[in-house]
Amino acid sequence: MPRPAGEPLHYEWRGTFTNEEVNALHAEAFDHRLVDDDWNGQLDRLSLGWVIACDDQGLVGFVNIIWDGGVHAFVEDTSVALRSRRQGIGERLIAVAREHSAAAGCEWLHVDFDDDLRNFYFDACGFVPTNAGLIKLR
Ligand SMILES: CC(C)(COP(=O)(O)OP(=O)(O)OC[C@H]1O[C@@H](n2cnc3c(N)ncnc32)[C@H](O)[C@@H]1OP(=O)(O)O)[C@@H](O)C(=O)NCCC(=O)NCCS
Repeated sequence: MPRPAGEPLHYEWRGTFTNEEVNALHAEAFDHRLVDDDWNGQLDRLSLGWVIACDDQGLVGFVNIIWDGGVHAFVEDTSVALRSRRQGIGERLIAVAREHSAAAGCEWLHVDFDDDLRNFYFDACGFVPTNAGLIKLR
């Protein structure tokens, strides 16, 4: 939801958003066509939590933290609007997610990403390199 003009950027763990807002941000961030996913329904069922960042024009940042029900939390769909990039929003989204995942009892926060985001995740957000694996299922 847009914040009043002049207010600083607002970050919120498990903050309120509309499916339209996240669908639009995700399509822009990951460069795909606009779809009609039910983010509210999915996150409600499957997430430990999520972080939103809003300015006076609406949602500019989002990250989803999925969970194994125990000590492992996983970063998915980190997205910052094109107009708001390189202002530290992505870094702050991860910092808020990290704080709340730890508070929820998680011991590990996982992420995977392409080479071009090594600076972001390793240097800016504090992740350390580890071995990980991936199988494409379809
Ligand atoms: C990745 C993403 C979330 C970063 O958000 P952001 O708000 O622009 O990042 P920040 O401003 O917090 O960046 C902090 C630092 O990380 C590094 N960084 C951020 N984006 C980077 C990029 N695209 N390439 C290289 N380094 C990057 C820089 O060191 C940056 O500091 P600087 O601006 O002082 O140089 C954003 O670019 C995005 O939404 N990308 C498209 C979706 C995507 O690929 N998500 C990740 C899925 S794993």
